[in-house]
Parts: sequence; structure tokens; C-alpha cells
Amino acid sequence: MCGIVGIIGHEFKVTDLIDGLKKLEYRGYDSAGLAAVNGQELFLSKSVGRVDTLRSVVEENKVIKGGIAHTRWATHGAPSDRNAHPHTDCTGKIAVVHNGIIENYQELKTELIQKGHKFKSETDTEVITHLIEENYKGDLYKAVLDTLKVLKGAFAIAVIHSDHPNVMVGARKGSPLVVGCNNELCVLASDVTPIIKYTRDVVFLEDGDVVFIEGNKMRITDFSGNTVIRKHTNITWDESAAEKGGFKHFMLKEINEIPESIESALVGRFDDDYNPVMHELDEFNIEKIKRILLVACGTSYHAGLVFKYFAEKYLNVDVLIDVASEFRYRPIRIDDETLTIAISQSGETADTLESIRAVKRAGGKVVAISNVVGSTITRESDVTLYMNAGPEIGVAASKTYVNQLILLYTLALYMIKKRNLWTEEHKNIAKQIVSSANLIKKIISNKEIEKVSDHYKNYQHFMYIGRGVNTATALEGALKLKEISYINAVGYPAGELKHGPIALLDPTFPVFAIAPKDSLYEKMRSNIEETRARNARILTIATEGDTEIQKISHDVLYVPEVHEDLYPLIIAPVIQLFAYYIADKRGYDPDKPRNLAKSVTVE
Ligand code: AGP
Repeated sequence: MCGIVGIIGHEFKVTDLIDGLKKLEYRGYDSAGLAAVNGQELFLSKSVGRVDTLRSVVEENKVIKGGIAHTRWATHGAPSDRNAHPHTDCTGKIAVVHNGIIENYQELKTELIQKGHKFKSETDTEVITHLIEENYKGDLYKAVLDTLKVLKGAFAIAVIHSDHPNVMVGARKGSPLVVGCNNELCVLASDVTPIIKYTRDVVFLEDGDVVFIEGNKMRITDFSGNTVIRKHTNITWDESAAEKGGFKHFMLKEINEIPESIESALVGRFDDDYNPVMHELDEFNIEKIKRILLVACGTSYHAGLVFKYFAEKYLNVDVLIDVASEFRYRPIRIDDETLTIAISQSGETADTLESIRAVKRAGGKVVAISNVVGSTITRESDVTLYMNAGPEIGVAASKTYVNQLILLYTLALYMIKKRNLWTEEHKNIAKQIVSSANLIKKIISNKEIEKVSDHYKNYQHFMYIGRGVNTATALEGALKLKEISYINAVGYPAGELKHGPIALLDPTFPVFAIAPKDSLYEKMRSNIEETRARNARILTIATEGDTEIQKISHDVLYVPEVHEDLYPLIIAPVIQLFAYYIADKRGYDPDKPRNLAKSVTVE
């Protein structure tokens, strides 16, 4: 997830473009750049780091007639000046900024290099610029249309050409793009934040739309050039709300971004026949791995726990998982049949990093799962599987947890396939993962979650219980509630209650039971009965259609039926929203919980 903005139509200061870009910084902030038409020249400026670094290298009072700018969240090619956007073509006349992922960029790049194009960056985006150059015959709009026909993946782009100082072309497929014009100029951007300074009358472009802007006039067409009519929306939000996309907090916005985030994680991960694809691991002799070490902290540890249950069920391997702060001080036994997986959304967590270094010192190989290209953990691991969730501003992990699960399920399925253990059941699980975004869209819109949270907002204690793979869900649910509502929430494997924790229960200590219809359902029912007998108030997550569970629960939240191993994936947004609403109702800011940091870079 990056931020793009373009302004055209009337002379303005280059700092106006940078101000607009600054408003998009929450979308990505590892590098930034801009290109502007100055007379017949293309003026280009790029820098690693935040937008203010770019501002410091651009001449303050420079006046331009049109320009595009970009703030980056790297997916292909570590943050650097040459990988920062905009990217230009061989003539230096065409500039492109892009948000999204071009899936087929490798093959397009090979063809273009054979045609003599010289590439300057490692990005997927640069193929777009050279393709436009390849198709350009004097009409920029036409060249963009011809280029869009061959692109696969997700994109929102803005394009300028120094021979056409009054023209900008934008297109959208999969990534957001908004346009607004006033009587002087037009602004094109990833969201409304840079636009509302100029006009509150905007058009949200839809997938398959192209916008041709000349001066302060725009025309919207489809990818074949047919005019399409789009409705105008009047934006009433103030700027900070706009940054949150109209949501009250970033955490709620990021939970609502989960479907889009899942789609980004799944780009190129399954072929048309639902076979898992992980080229990053093709060099790893996965077939001979007998032991997997999993190391992570906090929410990432809980994602690892889901992988442990799933992988041990289908793969004849031992999966040993540990919190990194313990793992790093324990003796490490590594041989060439051992694979270490390190999970860290930020890629900077000190304990996880030191654990990786310890494994490397012991001669081990490390596969990292991370969300930040160029982060220390990705640089020190042998290979990285990227989560592509985009930046997460809320300290409490939400969409990144779900993307970790998507990648970990896919990794286990990839290992199953590689070891010839693949069955129809695994194909069915793959199908459900690939279509999970739509299912989760429905789950997130369930208004019951907020209603039920109202009954629980005043408790000071809470116990989450689950069995099997949902033990991880119980632990994660408790962590989410603890982190942002400061309620003393504990998570336990339900079978463990009798061995002590049940002593805690009374009417002041409610229970959140994770009890979908899986092979441990009957066991969970009796555990719920046990807690009910101690007069605890029971909130149960159950599978749609399970009316029996209502008889032993005070409140029930339902999720659709899925393969039993995938309930952690679809239940994740429910436990996140529940914790969010309770924190909000208790008057806390879920985005900036006390005592916590988004990335724990100290021991
Ligand atoms: C989760 O909501 C917390 N922010 C925290 O537990 C986090 O998961 C942990 O610090 C690990 O962070 P990482 O994934 O960036 O390594």
C-alpha cells in the first residue's frame, strides 16, 4: 500500500504537491518522490525516508504546471533512491507513480529488455513506464490504454509526459483512486485527503476505470476507451477523519481493510488449480525438512501457533514454537533437516532478530514472514515471504495477523504439495483460503459484535478459552483485549481450566469461548458447562446454525461454516472488533494504547 497524488491544470508551488503527499504518508513512508513538467522538461526528485526528507531536497518556491508524487511502502525492491517512485522511461519524458503489485512484471520486463529497454530499478512498477514508452505514438492516453491491456495484478497509477504538460492519465484496478476538479485544476489521489483542500466534490474511480485529465477537465472511460459515467460524492469528513477513511480509529479502518489486505497477500500464491506457489522457497530442500522451529513475539507468536497445529496435522514434521525472548537464550540444536521460521510484521523486533542471529550462528537457515521490505529481519534472513498488508498504524495488530495466517496456511500447503501429501481435502482448504476475503467482508459487517460488546464493557477480568488450533485464537483474543482496553484478559486451552484457572471464575469474570463446529466441539461444550456452573457470563463464538450452543451461553456470535482448520482465520476479525468496541466504549484510544509500541526494538 503506497500513496499517490497528481495535480494538474494551473500553476502551483511544488510544495503544494508535497503537502498533498504528506497527507498520504500513513499509506507508506519508506521513500518518496515526485516528477513535474517544467516547460518541456521532466523534473524528478526522489529520496529514501519520509515525505519531509523529500521536501528538504526540493526547491521550495519552484512553480510547476503539473506533477505526480508518491510515498512508498516497498513490496518489490528495498527502499532506495532508485526504487523510489516516480519511475521514468528510457526517453526520460514519461513518469509513472503506482500503488499495487504487477504480478506478471518479470515476464514483461524480460520482453522489454530484449527490445532494448534499460531498467534503473528493481521494482515491478518500472515495467509500466517502459510499456507506455513502447506503445507511445504521440497520444499518451492511447499508450496507457494499450499498456493496461497486458498488466496483471492490482494497480492505481498516475502518468505524465513532458510533451503534454497539461495532461495526466490515471487508471485503477484493485487499488483505490479518487479524482476531484475545481475551476482551476484537477487532483488525483489514493484517497480524498489531498483533494479536500481544493474541492469536496470527488469521484471514487472503480476497477477498470481510466481518467484522462486535461487542464481542469476530466473524462472517465473503461480500459477500452468507452466513456463511463461515475457519480460524484460530496465529502463532509474533516482531514483527520479522511486519513482514517471516515473510520473513528486506524484500528477499525485496518480491520475493515482485511478483505483487501488478504487479496494482496494472495497475489501469485495459488495457481488456477489451487496449487500453492512459493517460488521463494524453491531452492530450499523442503522435502527433507523434519523439524521446524518457529520464533516470534506477541500476536506473531499466536499466528505461529496456528501454523504449528496445522502443519503437524498434515506434515510428518515436529514444529517447535517459542517466544523469541526465551528462544534466544536457550541452547539451539540445528541440523540440515531443520528449518527456522521467524514471524515479525515490523521486521524489527529485537528478540526475534536476536533469535535469528542465534540460529544463523548455529548454521541454520531462516525463512522470515514480514510486512516491511528492507527491514533488518528481512535483510538478515535467508528468504522472506512478504505479507503485503501495507502499513498498520494501530499498535494492536489486526490485518497483519490475518495476513500472517494466510501466508502460514499457504506455506504449510506448499510443503504438503512438495512432499506429495496433497489430497482433495487440501485443495478444498486452498479454495476456502482463496475465497476467504469475501467471507470476512460479511463477518466484519456483523453489527451483532458491537451490540454484544456493550454487555461486557464494564468487566475488569475476562477469560478466553479454546481447544486445538483455536487455543491460539483464545490467546490472541485475550491479548487484543488486554492491549487496548486494559482489562485483565487471560487465554487458556479449555482443557487446562480444571487444573487451576477455573478457580478465577465467578460472576465478575466472564468467559469468551471459541467453540466452532470442529472435531473438538463436544469437548468445548463440556468446558463451557464447567464455566457456566461457576456463574461466569458466557459469550460463545459458534458456527452458523448451531442453536444448541445458545442454551449454555448468554451471548453467541456466529461465523459461517468453514474447514475446521480455518476457523482461526475467520474468527480473527471478530475477536479484534470485540476488543476494539470495548476499548472505544471504555473511552480509550485503541490506536495508541498505553505502555506499548508498534515495534519493540529493545530487549
Ligand atoms: C500485537 O498487537 C502487538 N503489537 C505485539 O504483540 C506484536 O505482535 C509483537 O510486538 C510482535 O511484533 P512484530 O510482529 O512486529 O515482530
